[in-house]
Amino acid sequence: PIPYPKTLTAYHCRPAKNWISGECIFFGNLATGPMYYKGYYHIFYQYNPGKAVWGNITWGHGVSKDMVQWTFLHPALAPKEWYDIKGAWSGSVTIRPDGLPLIYYTGSSAADEQMASIAEPKDPSDPMLREWVKYTHNPILRPPPAILIRDFRDPTTAWMGADGVYRLSVGSKIGRAGVALMYKSKDLYNWEYQGEEKLLHAVAGTGMWECVDFYPVGPLGEPTPPLGTHGPGVHHVLKVSLDDERHDWYALGFYDTEKDIFIPDNPIIDVGIGLRYNYGKFYASKSFIDPVKQRRIIWGFVNESDPEVYDLAKGWNTVMGIPRTVWYDNDTGINVIQLPIDEIDQLRGSKLTKKAVHLPPGSVVPVEGAIGDQLDIEVVFEYPNVSIVGESEKNLDEHFECGQGGAQARGTFGPFGLLLLADKNLTELSAVFFYISHVKNAGWTTRFCADPTRGSLAKGIDTTIYGSFVNVLESEDFLSARIFVDKSVIETFVQGGRMTVNMRAYPTIAYESNANVFFFNNGTSPIKVRSIDVWQMQAATMLNL
Ligand code: FRU
Repeated sequence: PIPYPKTLTAYHCRPAKNWISGECIFFGNLATGPMYYKGYYHIFYQYNPGKAVWGNITWGHGVSKDMVQWTFLHPALAPKEWYDIKGAWSGSVTIRPDGLPLIYYTGSSAADEQMASIAEPKDPSDPMLREWVKYTHNPILRPPPAILIRDFRDPTTAWMGADGVYRLSVGSKIGRAGVALMYKSKDLYNWEYQGEEKLLHAVAGTGMWECVDFYPVGPLGEPTPPLGTHGPGVHHVLKVSLDDERHDWYALGFYDTEKDIFIPDNPIIDVGIGLRYNYGKFYASKSFIDPVKQRRIIWGFVNESDPEVYDLAKGWNTVMGIPRTVWYDNDTGINVIQLPIDEIDQLRGSKLTKKAVHLPPGSVVPVEGAIGDQLDIEVVFEYPNVSIVGESEKNLDEHFECGQGGAQARGTFGPFGLLLLADKNLTELSAVFFYISHVKNAGWTTRFCADPTRGSLAKGIDTTIYGSFVNVLESEDFLSARIFVDKSVIETFVQGGRMTVNMRAYPTIAYESNANVFFFNNGTSPIKVRSIDVWQMQAATMLNL
């Protein structure tokens, strides 16, 4: 295999020894208790201590004061008991009313039966919660009748209903329908199954629901509502990770606490068939409330795009995405907003700003001085004058998809955007771009796409082009993106976080000082860049204790 010279990330959360495999399990919390435990943010993740592939899954554990600089501790949970011998899989943390965190996690037995179990901190006075003890009465939940033993996993954080009774959900499937099973408890330890007739939600044809996440979401700038908040006007998010195609899907809706069900705002874009948190590489996310800043934060992992043999050779696999806050989008009312946590700005070093750059049709324009593979970029394009398009030409590219031609397609307004991790000769480059097209009966639509097809000279890389629609308001005369480049990861937050796309890149030439940034416009109309700001990003500390 061709070696990947500089793909190790510099500021993405990535445990030392480079053996993270699988996803993040993050602290969740109850309305009544703090989640931020004695001054530290805790991250748990599915971890194989043996090698850089999935297997022998333990709960890796890291702590941080700011979610940027990390210290990794001894794994919190190892697969040792009969009920978790084949792996301590995903789950959540719930803060008890007395402030003590409880882990609910999935264990897989020798017979492949999935069960939920509890673990508790050995020494609650240790702010790092280094040691965890498994509860003596484990397992606490086993697959109920009609649920296959391999389809019962990832208990959610518990929340309290209007009646003072706790709720918890476990992901599963019934036939081809993805389902969220419901449990009730008075004490967080003894749980009662509510039956197949009382599901939190189900969507036909979506398959196994992994890592179910369910929470109230509030508008940007307001303190986020604590878990358990409900009533008219309280928007809820239901998120599921679809095992079949490895994407995180969500729906906005209403939580009917009488019936204990989630009702999507629009059944046509229900969970698993409508919106995704991210249109690229991002999976198995979990959210929690940060009581310090009263915001809800989502963590997900960014999977590799290279074959497993390469992961084994390079000795590491998978990084965590930048933690992102999540809000209800008051302006559109139909999507959430995700923004990188402010703390990431501490890594910003020297800055370069350019204004009013013209991009003629078919042009590639270097962003002089934007050099390196650790960057934070904010770019704003003027929304082009679409009224110049005649009636007969309007629907010419109505069937455009990001995957059709990618950055090399040619339309009226797009593709235009940036080439990242690109060497001077454009042998290697990773493209992110906008594409505006007119769709019959739907008017002008904007897409944002990420095209890794020319990202690497190495062989065997997954070069799927990802992307989707971006909601642009009538009143918005611009298109914006914030892009984090970190050696092998590119994360983009589009139009103020209404849509996000992650991609991977494996440059063999275009790294460090050989990595450049270019604007490009492959459309037939001129495009104007209002401004671009590029910061060099410092590396974050990833300490191993
Ligand atoms: C998600 C998942 C979970 C499971 C865990 C096992 O990627 O499949 O459903 O608990 O990973 O590592």
